[in-house]
Amino acid sequence: MKVILLNGSPHQKGCTYTALHEIQNVLTQQEIDTEIFDIGTKPVGGCIACGYCYKNSKCYMEDRVNEFVKKADSADGFVFGSPVYYASANGSLVSFLDRVFQSGGQSMRGKPGTAIVSCRRGGSTAALDSLNKYFAYNNMPVVSSQYWNMVHGNSPDEVKQDLEGLQIMRTLGNNMAWLLKCIQLGKENGIELPQAEPWQRTNFIR
Ligand SMILES: Cc1cc2nc3c(=O)[nH]c(=O)nc-3n(C[C@H](O)[C@H](O)[C@H](O)COP(=O)(O)O)c2cc1C
Repeated sequence: MKVILLNGSPHQKGCTYTALHEIQNVLTQQEIDTEIFDIGTKPVGGCIACGYCYKNSKCYMEDRVNEFVKKADSADGFVFGSPVYYASANGSLVSFLDRVFQSGGQSMRGKPGTAIVSCRRGGSTAALDSLNKYFAYNNMPVVSSQYWNMVHGNSPDEVKQDLEGLQIMRTLGNNMAWLLKCIQLGKENGIELPQAEPWQRTNFIR
């Protein structure tokens, strides 16, 4: 079993990473493979609604989005991490995830997901809400913790002083491991994902 931890910060070893790393340690203790995937510092373009992905099952733009979707196929669970920017998730991460879900959401359907945020002071719950919407849109069980998934700090050292925040991350890692093991056991006993109905699309035109 494998979990991909997506670091939505431009800082490879910053505050968001510090929180993700706490989850990663717990997953490793639980014998679950992990990979931290950085969105990096190159500009991430947003979805241009060209429809290329409907026919080709990938984004027209060959960048880390397609790389992520390929890896997502063989992963079993996901943690999306973001620094809070202007009381929301990092704009680059939002662009990244819009394109991931538009072009490759199928590879994540039915797999557990969770989001964590890192902030200096405020806007954390609004940022979390925006990230949780990706899972809810895509038939993904959302993993929770003992409190909302956030750490506070403006540097990794400050995050390390947020003892409650780090405990929330560890609880989250254990809950993710528990759910993955339950799903695995279910599969071994013939419990499959429900068959999806053809999508009934209703646009509100009246
Ligand atoms: C453009 C920008 C906007 C930010 N907006 C907020 C904010 O709204 N609320 C907040 O508490 N911190 C804000 N911060 C601070 C970061 O969220 C915080 O330092 C975070 O822990 C950095 O994580 P990182 O080291 O993984 O990049 C902002 C930082 C930047 C660069």
